[in-house]
Amino acid sequence: MAKRKTKFVCQHCGYESPKWMGKCPGCSSWNSFVEEMEASGNRNKHTFNVGRNVAHKPEKISSIQTQQEPRVTVEMREFNRVLGGGIVAGSLVLIGGDPGIGKSTLLLQISAQLADKKLPVLYVSGEESIRQTKLRADRLDITSDLLYVLSETNLFDIAKQVEEIKPSFVVIDSIQTMYKEEISSAPGSVSQVRECTSELMKIAKTNGIPIFIVGHVTKEGSIAGPRLLEHMVDAVLYFEGERHHTYRILRGVKNRFGSTNEMGIFEMKEKGLREVMNPSEIFLEERSEGASGSTVVASMEGTRPVLVEIQALISPSAFGNPRRMATGTDQNRVPLLMAVLEKRVGLMLQNQDAYIKVAGGVKLDEPAIDLAIACSIASSFRDQPTRPDDIFIGEVGLTGEIRRVSRIEQRVQEAAKLGFKRVICPANNLDGWTAPDQIEVIGVKTVQEALHVGVSR
Ligand code: TYD
Ligand code: MG
Repeated sequence: MAKRKTKFVCQHCGYESPKWMGKCPGCSSWNSFVEEMEASGNRNKHTFNVGRNVAHKPEKISSIQTQQEPRVTVEMREFNRVLGGGIVAGSLVLIGGDPGIGKSTLLLQISAQLADKKLPVLYVSGEESIRQTKLRADRLDITSDLLYVLSETNLFDIAKQVEEIKPSFVVIDSIQTMYKEEISSAPGSVSQVRECTSELMKIAKTNGIPIFIVGHVTKEGSIAGPRLLEHMVDAVLYFEGERHHTYRILRGVKNRFGSTNEMGIFEMKEKGLREVMNPSEIFLEERSEGASGSTVVASMEGTRPVLVEIQALISPSAFGNPRRMATGTDQNRVPLLMAVLEKRVGLMLQNQDAYIKVAGGVKLDEPAIDLAIACSIASSFRDQPTRPDDIFIGEVGLTGEIRRVSRIEQRVQEAAKLGFKRVICPANNLDGWTAPDQIEVIGVKTVQEALHVGVSR
């Protein structure tokens, strides 16, 4: 009998080594190696061996027929949007998120909506018994006939059930509980997660079934059992939100069939997730008008503009080293914008603490929010409120110039729709479009000009 070989695998990045190491050469993390058994020679004995005999030949690119990917849409339009217009046949989609954020709830609701369209769905839970899943379904008022639930963690058995039921849609909840018998390491380890995912990929591609995989996120913020999962699947969606808030955001970070950075917004209610159709209203709901340090920006989230409040609190620093903190946006932009305000506008900010917060728990990272941050800082520093019906849009350059942003027309339309009266935006953006009548558009060239219009004394 052949000797079984073992190897050591880094649980963070998947680096393999024949010997144990303290520090991973791949990702520099410490003490991350775990001994795993090398898969034995006949590892494909049990695997789902379909499609192996189909040999592909190279084809001329000009002769390849293109068609739109066939997509299935669900009732939740926010969900379709994040996927780029619906679920693509044969796609493998990973949904990541913190435990308890609502991944199982979301996927059970989606499954039910598909089953209601007469499409058989197989919902595999490795974490909950079928009775627990049933209890959840009762809470969500799900009674679909074509929704099959299975409590199973052995991937080979799951593959058999897929063959038998021939579902149109499969959910695997979660990938960290699944295992293949041939691999001796524990479920959730790098090898198991990797092998199970590639097996699921095979099932999805050869049968044309879309498969959704749930993946938990570790404390460090990557999908547990390494990033390599993200490279293998067709799309990666993150389901995020603060546990203390009821709003949840589904965000695309990778999508082979559509644009990324799309965002779907949901609210967790007593009876499951409800989609939110007009996010701007929610993000502005709790805004206290007339307070200093608050501005509103129209930011693009994918193809949709959302209005979000940006708050700043500037207060004298008690220590020699002033603090600069930001939640919901890039930490590094704050000192940069403060330096611009100091040098180009003459605000004495060097001995001030600065706290920036994007309200509502969203994350914004596009440069078009610069001007709103700068104006919030100036407004708080001077204790001078901005007008509650002003919107600030623009990227700030190092010389204090206001730079052009994309899709200005859509942003302004959204602002007008929500009753804002003035838009302060880059002067370079003014050509080639017309603003709605009820909103005044003010083009500015420098931060100084913007402050003069928006935060004047
Ligand atoms: P769950 O889907 O189990 O999270 P995950 O699969 O991401 O771990 O969500 C559980 C949370 O959602 C739990 O705190 C209860 C809450 N919840 C509701 O508020 N309403 C509901 O209808 C359901 C089913 C759950
Ligand atoms: Mg769950």
